[in-house]
Amino acid sequence: MTTRVDTLLTLSGVGKTFGGTVALEGIDLSIETGKVHAFVGENGAGKSTLGKLIVGVHAPSAGRIALDGAEVHFASPAQALDHGLVGISQELSLMPQRTVLDNIALGREVMRGPFVDARATRAAVQAVMDRYDMQVDLDARVGDIPVVEQQKVEILRALSRDARLIVFDEPTARLPSDQVAPLLALVRQLAGAGKAVIYVSHFLEEILEATDTVTILRNGRHIRTGPTASETHETLVEGVTGSVLGEQYPEITAPDAAQAPVLSVRGLSRPGVFENVSFDIRPGEIVGLAGLVGSGRSEIARAILGADPATGEIRFNGGDTGRSIAARLAAGMAMIPENRREQGLMIDRPIVENVTLSHLRRFSGALGLDRRRERAEVTQQCTATGLKYNSLDDPAAALSGGNQQKILFARAALGDPALLIADEPTRGVDVGAKRSIYDLIAGLAARGKAILLISSELEEILGLSHRVIVVSRGRVAGELEGADLTESALMTAAFSGT
Ligand SMILES: Nc1ncnc2c1ncn2[C@@H]1O[C@H](COP(=O)(O)OP(=O)(O)O)[C@@H](O)[C@H]1O
Ligand SMILES: [Mg+2]
Repeated sequence: MTTRVDTLLTLSGVGKTFGGTVALEGIDLSIETGKVHAFVGENGAGKSTLGKLIVGVHAPSAGRIALDGAEVHFASPAQALDHGLVGISQELSLMPQRTVLDNIALGREVMRGPFVDARATRAAVQAVMDRYDMQVDLDARVGDIPVVEQQKVEILRALSRDARLIVFDEPTARLPSDQVAPLLALVRQLAGAGKAVIYVSHFLEEILEATDTVTILRNGRHIRTGPTASETHETLVEGVTGSVLGEQYPEITAPDAAQAPVLSVRGLSRPGVFENVSFDIRPGEIVGLAGLVGSGRSEIARAILGADPATGEIRFNGGDTGRSIAARLAAGMAMIPENRREQGLMIDRPIVENVTLSHLRRFSGALGLDRRRERAEVTQQCTATGLKYNSLDDPAAALSGGNQQKILFARAALGDPALLIADEPTRGVDVGAKRSIYDLIAGLAARGKAILLISSELEEILGLSHRVIVVSRGRVAGELEGADLTESALMTAAFSGT
């Protein structure tokens, strides 16, 4: 007995070069209808390029693409669309000023003679929404609806053009976290309706949750393709990075137990948020602050930094610091904030300004800002953090998420802080960049800095911390160290107060 597989698309020996850059080489792959097929890999692995070859944005430099067994050549996305192959790009391509209906129907209006038949056009769009059970408010202005609804509009536009295959390129990169699940549900729904879906992402959790097949790309090469069900987080990380998981976390050296704490927190309280929190951090020690979302982790960190008011005692470097955030920063605290876009980076400003923000005083003298010294020190910090950039004058927005995060590390390091608070330092960065951020944290600790690490990723907390404070409902529910520092002990403590 043979299992029938509906192969829509076959790629044989496909390659793509851009000038001197080999983006893809020797890709053999088939794409099936009714399946969600993930392309996973680090930044620059070739995921987007592969998707673009399929939807006619680029033409392959080598190899063949066959649709229903017959070789095809697309000179443009419009030609690929004629064959039912559609890409939903990283940056949405909708007209924000126009209505949802206009955006879906544009170019597909039902005509009566030379005129658009508005009622029939609307009915045709409504029929597509009904058929796929995907409702949106047709009269809303696209610019006014949430990103996930805008994605729905793009999907409906594709469906109303009889799409057979839809490529999603990093669709969740711009989504708030509560909209990720609805988007994944949409993706599953499309496969359920018999569409072939390609899902490009570097978020392994999304891949494991929502896809049927996964193709791993590394440096433009096809590493493997197989059922998602036979992959785990670990095997994907190994495939994507080419290194075994044991190397995912750097060695951390034990702090000197004889040294006095850098930070002593005693009885820190903020009514209704956290209560009676006490702990120490020594020089060179990485202390994890773990707990469920909403347990008060970030709020405790903000209070330590002086960003929020709290009662209790905070001793830093053996003394009292002022209450204000400015006083605490001046005393040698630094923070990598949870939401780098909203709290940390000026995304449209040059890298150099982002690094020196909050340190400008250092470079000001009687004659104004010493630009040359500023650039020299920034360059040094950027090199030390492994930031990849072309020019210090490029906007932060030009960099990948991992490199944006490194800007914040460079900024923090520039102040030579005694304590670094890192709140979700690897959120939204790919696995390769994660490792370099872990190296940065371990390196700072090795140079005697005290680190307070907040993360929702248990593995990260376990892999990187010397000691972990577990918070549950605003109270310290446990302090784990050495052999006691296990995933189950951590989870038990995290859930203890709930
Ligand atoms: N239009 C282009 N011109 C030149 N080089 C490109 C272009 N698009 C992609 N590349 C290069 O091809 C490689 C793969 O890029 P890409 O497909 O965007 O990777 P991914 O989506 O996996 O991050 C990278 O080295 C990238 O710099
Ligand atoms: Mg890409």
